[in-house]
Amino acid sequence: MAWCKLQGAIVSCHSRTRHELTDEKGASSRLLEVVQPVVTRETIKIMLPELTIAYVPSTQIVESKPLPIPTSDSGKFGRFGGKFVPETLVACLNQLELHFENALRDQLFQAELAVALRDYVGRETPLYHAERLSEYYKSMNNGKGPDIYLKREDLSHTGSHKMNNALAQSMIAKRMGCKSVVTATGSGQHGLATAAACAKLGLDCTVFMAAKDMQRQSSNVRLIKLLGAQVEKVEGGFKDAASEAFRYWVGDLERNYHLTGSAVGPHPCPAMVREFQSVIGKETRIQALEKWGGKPDVVVACVGTGSNALGLFHEFIDDRDVRLIGVEAGGMGLESGAHSSSLTTGEVGVYHGAITYLLQDQDGQVIQPHSIAAGMEYPGVGPELSFLKESGRAEFCVANDQEALHAYERLCKLEGIVPSLEAAHALAILDKLVPTLHNGSKVVVNCSGRGDKDAATVFNRGLFDEE
Ligand SMILES: Cc1ncc(COP(=O)(O)O)c(C=O)c1O
Repeated sequence: MAWCKLQGAIVSCHSRTRHELTDEKGASSRLLEVVQPVVTRETIKIMLPELTIAYVPSTQIVESKPLPIPTSDSGKFGRFGGKFVPETLVACLNQLELHFENALRDQLFQAELAVALRDYVGRETPLYHAERLSEYYKSMNNGKGPDIYLKREDLSHTGSHKMNNALAQSMIAKRMGCKSVVTATGSGQHGLATAAACAKLGLDCTVFMAAKDMQRQSSNVRLIKLLGAQVEKVEGGFKDAASEAFRYWVGDLERNYHLTGSAVGPHPCPAMVREFQSVIGKETRIQALEKWGGKPDVVVACVGTGSNALGLFHEFIDDRDVRLIGVEAGGMGLESGAHSSSLTTGEVGVYHGAITYLLQDQDGQVIQPHSIAAGMEYPGVGPELSFLKESGRAEFCVANDQEALHAYERLCKLEGIVPSLEAAHALAILDKLVPTLHNGSKVVVNCSGRGDKDAATVFNRGLFDEE
């Protein structure tokens, strides 16, 4: 056992565990001794009354181990991840990694972040028992079935989980002395979160966005501009906007901070995003314990690049009795080729600086993805999720556009909650999942964002026309 001190107060006790990452052949990629925080609401409240939320760094390396996250030094998750960038960028990424590590170890940064997550973002977000949704499924099986809970990330400031990471990384940008933040957004939720965080911290902000996403998520584009950020239109899709943001960053490395909202890219980007999103799972563990005295049996999240899924999953990776289920966008159906199911149908390749599963043709050229949800439309996926798939720890499945639309409507009608179309993919899988689960089992679905931004898309598909 060891104790973690924050601003001179003991806030949590930790148990030492040995963390081993293995690839599919069972080869050990790295053995780490880590300190796993065992945090309860009571330990936080008693020792630091002003901090009543669950955020603490997920793991802290003891002794001389350099990196407080279970990745190899080069950011590898098994054979995935890495830092496949031009040599000129390696130094910048190394510097970013150093600042990230320093921030994680800086108790003042951690305390400032915890307060900002509480007072600015509105954490903790509720773990909501969706009683009528649970009843809907139970009514098809003689009143038996699982209890469904929603992790309400849609209630975060600016309406999605994206704020957790945008805020923390903007704070790091400021510590690094950068004056300007550059990013790319698909659904506009990450752009909105970054624009808000930059306004709060007095940083310039430039958001790259694909023309077609600007059209379908136009309400977010207006809001991003209202918050003082500049929006740059890019031809193509989100992947092209992401490439442009990288290019812009490289143009002035001293001034610009590249703030990735996706769990993709070269190391340390995926590790940073996962770390700052891990608050979702940490809160869920505490809330589950309080609500039913145990853990969830299944946690479910949609997978665009993996940031909300990893945010929920990471806390439970070592709990083998908790099933982790990621839902990819099946678009118009896998057979149509118009989808974004990189883990389900992709091949391993290198994209945006990392080895991961990727939609690519026989020549290795990236295939344009499709989803009705702008935030799901990416041809790759975070390397850590690729590792979780290959190691068999997480399961991945697919919900198509139509299924997501139905799930969107169902949650509106049964619970009075308008989910984002991204989150609707996670909800859609309940149709197939619920009949396979025991009566009384506990399912947590990450409601990663709110869906007012998608109302126009939904109305255009004529979903509510009959009324
Ligand atoms: C609300 C919401 N949920 C989910 C996603 C999917 O991204 P990720 O897989 O990184 O969580 C997005 C992406 O923009 C989003 O806006």
